[in-house]
Amino acid sequence: MTNNNIYFIANWKMFGSLKSVNSLNKVVSYSKKNKYKAKIIYCPPYTLLKSFVDRTKNSNIQIGAQDCHIQPKYGPFTGAISPKMIKDLGGKFVIIGHSETRDENDNNKINLKIKSALEENLDVILCVGEKLTDKKNNKTKSVLKKQLLEGLKNLNKLNKIIIAYEPVWSIGTGIIPKENDLIKNIKFIRDTLKWSKKFTKSKVLYGGSVNPKNIKNLMRIDNIDGFLIGGASTNEKIFIDIMKKSII
Ligand code: PGA
Repeated sequence: MTNNNIYFIANWKMFGSLKSVNSLNKVVSYSKKNKYKAKIIYCPPYTLLKSFVDRTKNSNIQIGAQDCHIQPKYGPFTGAISPKMIKDLGGKFVIIGHSETRDENDNNKINLKIKSALEENLDVILCVGEKLTDKKNNKTKSVLKKQLLEGLKNLNKLNKIIIAYEPVWSIGTGIIPKENDLIKNIKFIRDTLKWSKKFTKSKVLYGGSVNPKNIKNLMRIDNIDGFLIGGASTNEKIFIDIMKKSII
């Protein structure tokens, strides 16, 4: 089986210097081989957006940011970056609602951030996921539902929104959900998305401790459209290894 159309989204978080741009070389050439059809997207920190865009020119790799402001263009917001600025640099995607940016104050901004990203024509990767306490208290479904309904309220251009299911307790811990739980939760997300007919075609990804050892098992779960990969994506060999092993 191929991994055609499967998403491999690299979330570099607060890692990377100008030199790390060289670590894209192997991935760029890998993506050019055999008309590789998986969808590779790098989301470096803002400081590296332009360098990553330049380095991946003439390849099918695309670039995105890890967050954005609720104002689509410009404004007096010290330290903030808008969707327009991301687009100006050649970014095509933006991650919104990652658990590392989603704090109590941010939760009600997710919907506004998505709206502003769509206004600038960026594709959005909306992260949802329960914390360990939610899981222990059997609250996973209600948390996912709330995050989805609040995040996606009154939106259009729904084909430009990808959902990434990232259980918070899985991120950076080496622990991934049991297969049955993952199947169940992804299905729950898809069912919830059906509340609006507009969302039925949305892609649903999994994120949290994806690595070369667990990718084969994750690929066997057939309702997953791809992966949001943190730590393992910053090492080109490991990232390529994951993509190679995803062909089962
Ligand atoms: P991880 O991070 O792969 O290092 O667990 C995933 C993420 O936070 O998106």
